Amino acid sequence: MSTYHLLIFLLGILVVVAAAASPSPSASTCSAPNASMSFILSPLDLQNCFSLQSLMKPSRYPYVTADGEIFLTRDPADSAQHTNLYNVGRISYTGPLELRDPNGRVRSFSTFFVFNITTFTKYNESGDGIAFVVTTDSEPPQNSTGRFLGLMPEKASDRHQQFIAVEFDTFQNLEPEILDPSASHIGIDISSLSSAKPYLNTADPSHPLYLYNNYTISAWVSYNSSTHLIQVWATNSTYLQRPRDPILSVSRNLSQLFENFSDIYVGITAASGNNSQATILYSWNFTVGEFQIQHSSPGLPLLWSIVVAAIFAVVLFIAAIFAVPMIVRRRKLALIEQKSILAIRDVSLSVQRYRYSELMRATQKFSEHRKIGKGGFSSVYKGILRDGTILAIKRMREGLAEADVISREVEIISRIKHRNLLELEGWCYERGEALLVYQYMERGSLDRYLHGDKSAADSQELHGEIRYKIITGVAAALEYLHFGLTECVLHRDVKAANVLLTDTMEAKLGDFGLARLINRDEIVTITAVGTPGYVAPEIVHTGRVTEKADVYSFGVLAMEIACGRRAIDPSNMICSRLSDWVWLHHQRGSITEALDPAILHPPSGPPLRGDRDGSELQQLEKWQCVLHLGLLCCQEDPEARPDMSEVHQALKSQTVLPPPSSWALYSIRSSGTTTRSDGTLAPSPESSTISDFTMTASLTYSSQYVR
Ligand SMILES: *[C@@H]1O[C@H](CO)[C@@H](O)[C@H](O)[C@H]1NC(C)=O
Ligand SMILES: *[C@@H]1O[C@H](CO)[C@@H](O)[C@H](O)[C@H]1NC(C)=O
Ligand SMILES: *[C@@H]1O[C@H](CO)[C@@H](O)[C@H](O)[C@H]1NC(C)=O
Ligand SMILES: *[C@@H]1O[C@H](CO)[C@@H](O)[C@H](O)[C@H]1NC(C)=O
Ligand SMILES: *[C@@H]1O[C@H](CO)[C@@H](O)[C@H](O)[C@H]1NC(C)=O
Ligand SMILES: *[C@@H]1O[C@H](CO)[C@@H](O)[C@H](O)[C@H]1NC(C)=O
Ligand SMILES: *[C@@H]1O[C@H](CO)[C@@H](O)[C@H](O)[C@H]1NC(C)=O
Ligand SMILES: *[C@@H]1O[C@H](CO)[C@@H](O)[C@H](O)[C@H]1NC(C)=O
Ligand SMILES: *[C@@H]1O[C@H](CO)[C@@H](O)[C@H](O)[C@H]1NC(C)=O
Ligand SMILES: *[C@@H]1O[C@H](CO)[C@@H](O)[C@H](O)[C@H]1NC(C)=O
Ligand SMILES: *[C@@H]1O[C@H](CO)[C@@H](O)[C@H](O)[C@H]1NC(C)=O
Repeated sequence: MSTYHLLIFLLGILVVVAAAASPSPSASTCSAPNASMSFILSPLDLQNCFSLQSLMKPSRYPYVTADGEIFLTRDPADSAQHTNLYNVGRISYTGPLELRDPNGRVRSFSTFFVFNITTFTKYNESGDGIAFVVTTDSEPPQNSTGRFLGLMPEKASDRHQQFIAVEFDTFQNLEPEILDPSASHIGIDISSLSSAKPYLNTADPSHPLYLYNNYTISAWVSYNSSTHLIQVWATNSTYLQRPRDPILSVSRNLSQLFENFSDIYVGITAASGNNSQATILYSWNFTVGEFQIQHSSPGLPLLWSIVVAAIFAVVLFIAAIFAVPMIVRRRKLALIEQKSILAIRDVSLSVQRYRYSELMRATQKFSEHRKIGKGGFSSVYKGILRDGTILAIKRMREGLAEADVISREVEIISRIKHRNLLELEGWCYERGEALLVYQYMERGSLDRYLHGDKSAADSQELHGEIRYKIITGVAAALEYLHFGLTECVLHRDVKAANVLLTDTMEAKLGDFGLARLINRDEIVTITAVGTPGYVAPEIVHTGRVTEKADVYSFGVLAMEIACGRRAIDPSNMICSRLSDWVWLHHQRGSITEALDPAILHPPSGPPLRGDRDGSELQQLEKWQCVLHLGLLCCQEDPEARPDMSEVHQALKSQTVLPPPSSWALYSIRSSGTTTRSDGTLAPSPESSTISDFTMTASLTYSSQYVR
């Protein structure tokens, strides 16, 4: 080999090494100021800090005009009907972006972009829409055209990405996994195309955002890393001030969503399917960390003029002495008010707004001895107002006082009116704290009567008639929540502690803290919440909640009232669930033995045994109806359970429905593992031993109880 060849060879190696050592071009060449904390889409930075991507290669789109406008899917001047069909156009930021803090948490961010959707066809016959996305995909996934908006692939088995997207969707897809509410809607999509919260242009006539008819839309999206609140604002006005109220807000911990991925990308994506439309991106900017966005506030001038007038009056009155401190205080008050108004929109005016200071005084600064209840998400205090009115005040646990949580609860409850539901009297949202004010129920909850220290007076009052009325009342309340409103409202925490009693021992179902509005028949996936013993098995297994989960909890409650036993008896290793216990009695043909003896034989009533007269037989039949209903409601298969109107009807007419023919019994063996034996089929010797043992144990217990 000549030295000449050797030189060429060495030079070659050098070139290869140099190429490998140089960092990826995107990171090295994007040198916009503060590029890692914010970016602005500008013609200057387009080349180095952004990448224009499409699925079809080569493709004319996305295309940048001389003015710096970006045609993501199509040139609006192109009149050809079928331009760029089945494609995705995406612009991604490729510069350095510190979206995570040193601990790996996703930081707060906000973004603002302006776009125009130009359609050439009729409503619902255009392309698919545009979306802002924060995703784990550096490029649009393969086969993600059309309804998939460049967010995720068509084939379910190819979906590995996590993303949060704000979609501006112009085509209604009715596939069950997407189920768009209309052909013009805005939604927040979290790793799924079925929007967590769709916003319809028809929902609010004063802010119509008709996405399909060539409007220019300005949109703002923000994420707060401490509250995990994702908020979206949008307007069709070209005047670039953010409206006061977000059109969407959803709470989601993005650090958790992206926990299994090291890289996150931000982009704007638009898609066409069998039809196309022009989606023009005019501007886009993005900031990580703290942000301040000016917003316009149509309601404010009026408020301010009132405040100013008030200040003026005060100044006149106490001019010389208190002028300065007064003004300061008024201003502070006005600011606080403004914040509460911001947090809670569209809430019916039928409920009163209280001042934080007023409620603090009423509860003696939320002192322990005023605490009358405690739930997973809140504490309840007894409050006495200056005028002597007694109220129950629910204070959300710290950190949970998110505007969307409280506004959801207020929104739901203020619309609901039923004699068996606890009415909301007022609310307060100040200093980041959420307080809900209810009627005060002197007698407290049913829980206390059923399982509290059974003082003679208490248990006498809870005789059979009253208990039946309570069960019927709760059934009526749930029937109303499920069927009486335009949307189905799930209660999701039906239990004895949430049933309050009026002076006349009427039931009032309270605590909508977990309630969530869903469209009828919609299935909502949530993380399992609720109270052990009352939670339907399908929630634990699948996280899917329908109104049948409330039916399950109601069944447990009905049996709890009828039997005077808790929903779960941890000391009973073989059948800790009350429903199993009742089922075993039923299997033995002695279901009424499961009843609380106090029902049929009140302490002050006639003597216990011997004379089973007509009225007692009637009573037994009535309670058999309750127990059978309880079992029907607690069936493992949600479909098999009756709905609340059937339940209420059966209770009103005292119809004894046939109990379920099969039952899935849970038992805990001595090994400690949970196993399932089916009580329906001819019982195997083993399972019958278990039942017999249980029956013996429980019958001993109940006969002790009678004496
Ligand atoms: C970049 O950041 C520095 C400090 O963080 C700030 O002083 C400067 O104004 C920023 N520049 C731009 C163009 O935002
Ligand atoms: C996209 O879908 C087509 C047909 O539906 C299929 O032939 C092709 O392999 C898919 N491509 C990818 C990358 O999945
Ligand atoms: C929109 O088009 C799809 C598909 O053609 C159709 O299934 C859906 O019903 C249409 N929706 C409206 C609102 O017209
Ligand atoms: C939108 O603009 C295009 C081109 O300017 C026009 O052909 C179309 O009719 C417009 N669509 C609507 C709904 O106004
Ligand atoms: C949106 O773009 C189309 C096509 O360029 C144009 O005709 C229309 O006027 C634009 N709309 C607005 C509100 O600017
Ligand atoms: C925004 O939408 C409303 C209702 O359709 C319309 O009256 C208004 O002109 C639109 N504004 C702009 C700037 O297009
Ligand atoms: C959010 O998710 C992160 C990562 O999983 C976790 O460390 C953090 O505790 C979560 N925050 C809250 C409030 O749940
Ligand atoms: C991350 O991976 C772990 C382990 O595979 C899994 O348990 C967890 O659910 C994943 N997180 C998300 C948000 O998918
Ligand atoms: C695609 O659109 C054309 C008209 O533009 C229509 O005739 C055809 O049925 C559509 N195909 C599908 C699969 O929707
Ligand atoms: C984006 O630009 C708008 C208009 O220039 C500005 O008001 C806003 O503060 C910017 N937002 C971010 C997040 O940089
Ligand atoms: C996030 O929310 C908290 C509590 O409302 C607030 O104090 C903080 O300023 C917000 N952060 C940003 C970046 O807006």
